[in-house]
Amino acid sequence: MRVTVIGAGYVGLTSTLALAHVGHDVVCVETEPSRLVKLKRREDPLGEPGLGALLSVERVSFVVRDSHLKEAEVIIVAVGTPALPNGHPDTSQIDDAARSISSHASAGAAVLVRSTVPVGTCDRLQAGSLRRQFVISNPEFLREGRAVQDTFAPDRIVAGGPEAARPTVVALYSGILDRRNAPSGIVSAPAEVPFLWMTARSAELTKYAANAFLATKLSFANEIANLAALAGADAHAVLGAVGLDPRIGRGHLSPSLGWGGGCLPKDTRALQALAAEHSYDFRVLSAAIEQNEHQITAFAHAIAGEAGAGGRIGLLGLTFKAGTVDTRESPALGLARRLVALRLSVVAYDPMLSEPPSGAPEMTLCADAFSACTDADVVAVATEWPVFSTLDLVRLRGVMRGDALFDGRGVIDRDRAESAGFRYWGVGLAPTPGMPVPVGLGAAESRG
Ligand code: UGA
Repeated sequence: MRVTVIGAGYVGLTSTLALAHVGHDVVCVETEPSRLVKLKRREDPLGEPGLGALLSVERVSFVVRDSHLKEAEVIIVAVGTPALPNGHPDTSQIDDAARSISSHASAGAAVLVRSTVPVGTCDRLQAGSLRRQFVISNPEFLREGRAVQDTFAPDRIVAGGPEAARPTVVALYSGILDRRNAPSGIVSAPAEVPFLWMTARSAELTKYAANAFLATKLSFANEIANLAALAGADAHAVLGAVGLDPRIGRGHLSPSLGWGGGCLPKDTRALQALAAEHSYDFRVLSAAIEQNEHQITAFAHAIAGEAGAGGRIGLLGLTFKAGTVDTRESPALGLARRLVALRLSVVAYDPMLSEPPSGAPEMTLCADAFSACTDADVVAVATEWPVFSTLDLVRLRGVMRGDALFDGRGVIDRDRAESAGFRYWGVGLAPTPGMPVPVGLGAAESRG
């Protein structure tokens, strides 16, 4: 099939390469000049595992504008929908894409909206500028750091829209629905991917429901972790055991200083805004969002309490999780922002970053963990980079002024830390005896 993909972000680029890999002819439109230059040179602009190897695939071209859009049987819209200040997604890039499709695409083309959009967006486009095309909601569920794996071996493909377009969508994905076509190295069981067809509104809401459920699961795990620390239990053992129940599932149960990224925070706020629009009080979701804010704030207060006025913090990790260069709504940056507001100085290290990300609070970025922690009163681990689990802790303790280690990801072994002379507190574990329970995590005080 002849396919055009609008947008070369995580969703658009992996869709482009996967569809070309299974035999479609794909034109990918990207308007951001530096990304387009890289793609034309077949360089990976995202740093996603496995993406570089796929970029050599044939049957794909990268352009600033598809002058042959009329030939496209399928047009995939994968542009950004960033949050507006009121929590609603900004759909202006979707509307721009729809205008261009309406002027240049053939009648009867299938337009698949893969961007995360408010419920009702596809129906609105179908009744408006795209009335000559078929508009289908087709949300994407890939994780950053596993984008290629998740695109070739999705848990499910969800799509919804006019029934007449269903065979086109099935034909588009037939090569992916049969996992035997995936490149080697992709986990391939089970053999068939569930294909779920529903209304566009249901498909749109499925995306928000999935991300909101994951966020709620994470906040719940973090509440158990805080309680475990107070009650003298080990949250990692507890949640590991709880997750073995298939009704609960093992994923997204690692406790942390909070959840972030380009999707969960934005999508939970958008779902909250949708609920408000319908005068519906989505209590569980509001609690999950509030818990996350509180988790990061409590962590910051605990660190500030240890560091003392004007103290210096060695912050290890800035990306929102390991395996990505992305720092959007990173809990690490949320922590740094709070620490700076508490008048502490932050000196950071992240294995993937050579300069502070845009929007970061005032901080110094170092080239290694030891430089970041030199003269630090407290070291705080905020991203679960595997390299942090093997740090020479004796050396780290030696360069520091203080002896407190806060592990917000559970990556540093407590016994190793204590043998190296640290007082240790890791999320979900009781602190080293004599170390205060982190301020705010224990008390039933007002949150925020
Ligand atoms: C998330 C969803 O997991 C994907 O299914 C979805 O497609 C994607 O958003 C999207 O909407 O595009 P991603 O943003 O890559 O994927 O992030 P996650 O892997 O879900 O992690 C989110 C946050 O939770 C991170 O800060 C991570 O460190 C944290 N986390 C995750 C934990 O604290 N503990 C865990 O056990 C798992």
